[in-house]
Amino acid sequence: MRREKPQGPSGPVLPGPRGWHGPAAGHSVYLQPAAEWRATSVQACGLWPFSVGAGAPLIGAPLGKHLLTGATVCGDPISWFQRAGLLTAPTAFVMGLQGFGKSSCIRRMALSLAGFGVLPLVLGDLKPDYVDLIAALDGQVITLGRGRGYLNVLDITLAKAAARRLGEGEHAKLGRELLADAVGRRHTMVSALISIQRGHPPNDREDSMLAAALRVLDERHDATPVLSDLLETIESAPERVRASAFDRGSLERYRELVEPLQVTLQALLGEGRVGEMFSRQSTVGLDLDRPAVFDVSSIPEDETELVGAALSACWGVGFGAVNVTHALAEAGLAPMRHYLIILDELWRALIAGRGMVDRTNSLTRLNRQWGVGVVMCSHTIKDLLSLPDEHERMKALGLIERSGMLICGALPPEEMPRLALAKDLSLAEQRQLISWQDPPAWSAAASNDAPPGRGNFMIKIGGRPAIPFRVTLTKAEQGLHDTNKLWHEQSRRGELGPTRHVAVDAPEG
Ligand SMILES: Nc1ncnc2c1ncn2[C@@H]1O[C@H](COP(=O)(O)OP(=O)(O)OP(=O)(O)O)[C@@H](O)[C@H]1O
Ligand SMILES: [Mg+2]
Repeated sequence: MRREKPQGPSGPVLPGPRGWHGPAAGHSVYLQPAAEWRATSVQACGLWPFSVGAGAPLIGAPLGKHLLTGATVCGDPISWFQRAGLLTAPTAFVMGLQGFGKSSCIRRMALSLAGFGVLPLVLGDLKPDYVDLIAALDGQVITLGRGRGYLNVLDITLAKAAARRLGEGEHAKLGRELLADAVGRRHTMVSALISIQRGHPPNDREDSMLAAALRVLDERHDATPVLSDLLETIESAPERVRASAFDRGSLERYRELVEPLQVTLQALLGEGRVGEMFSRQSTVGLDLDRPAVFDVSSIPEDETELVGAALSACWGVGFGAVNVTHALAEAGLAPMRHYLIILDELWRALIAGRGMVDRTNSLTRLNRQWGVGVVMCSHTIKDLLSLPDEHERMKALGLIERSGMLICGALPPEEMPRLALAKDLSLAEQRQLISWQDPPAWSAAASNDAPPGRGNFMIKIGGRPAIPFRVTLTKAEQGLHDTNKLWHEQSRRGELGPTRHVAVDAPEG
């Protein structure tokens, strides 16, 4: 049937975007999305202007496939900072619900970057999630834990040796800065351990007594001191420590003032909650010429304080060592190495005691960010907002805010307003994150299925639209990636018992 074009007062009326309305007029009720292809400019140049730029740069670690276009999504904090110029700092924050593949996504990033010559450095592995990967990359696995391995937080021999190598000549300033930084970091680590042991940070007087005692220790000890040497130094009441305690010339007053500090340090040496892991010389030194992981998986999950202490000690030691390597490289005395520093389960250290957010900030400070990417990982913002003090909560949120790259996995709806405090996500992006948290199908046959949203993430940088992608693990990765290894082995051996189907009769009547 042919219809006349409707006429308006000034000529024919044009059809709307879906065609003419009305019966048999060809109105389209369904709008088909345009098909998208990706091609090189050589192949697609003739089609211009119909070809458009890809949604994400193909720079960095290949992470997975774009959920909408199927195109490869690449990205990591180092490449996006250094090569793409998309970030103002090489930092990424990964968040998402438990078991939805955050650590696997970070491992993918680390593995790909290792191929580009960047050394992964995992500063505290609680599961262990990264030990297999680092071992496969021929890296160093440092085991820590009660009776397994010790970490001496007072050890600054690396920085001292480097300062000596930098000498008195043109690099003297660099050497002085390096040493001052190591001394400050060591002080922060001791005060972090004290904060965790007590549940609150040391007061101002104790802080300056600690700083003075550490200086005296450096003057008195040629060998590397341990925590018991620090305790002895404080007990011996040296003049410098007494001055910082403001004992007004009374030894009795000094003893009174110093007692709480002595009690805490004594607890750190063995009998306290934090335990003796930090009381002896380090079992193994960190070798920064290859990938490395601190394996702290032997620490029971419910020992919150010890977990927090172990993580912050690993961060202090790791970041300190990276600073040393970079100072030597800057002076041309060592090759310039690039690192990807991984801080998984960040919240566990932040909640370990009051004041830990500040200490985390200063322990994870780098003098030069060139070539060092940092990936932080936490579950939800709720974990960060569970900190007791308002200013600590705000600072913890600041960690996300300042991370140029936010990688979000499945999240529950109640997280959205909290997330909005740190990053601006559109409603569509929020809906997508919520949809990924659904559990797998409800049938017994599908009980081994993964939740459909596992491995789905979106990268958000600034106000740009998020890039949703799916990480698909390769066969080789799957062997290194199974964090539910024990469960799978049990069910393979049949120890969990066969799944039985029980018919439930409907009650009669
Ligand atoms: N993209 C994926 N495809 C298939 N399986 C995956 C994928 N990502 C993760 N897994 C599997 O899911 C399980 C949990 O993954 P992973 O440990 O990475 O999660 P997570 O978010 O870090 O968990 P947690 O919050 O407990 O640290 C592992 O057994 C892993 O092998
Ligand atoms: Mg994990």
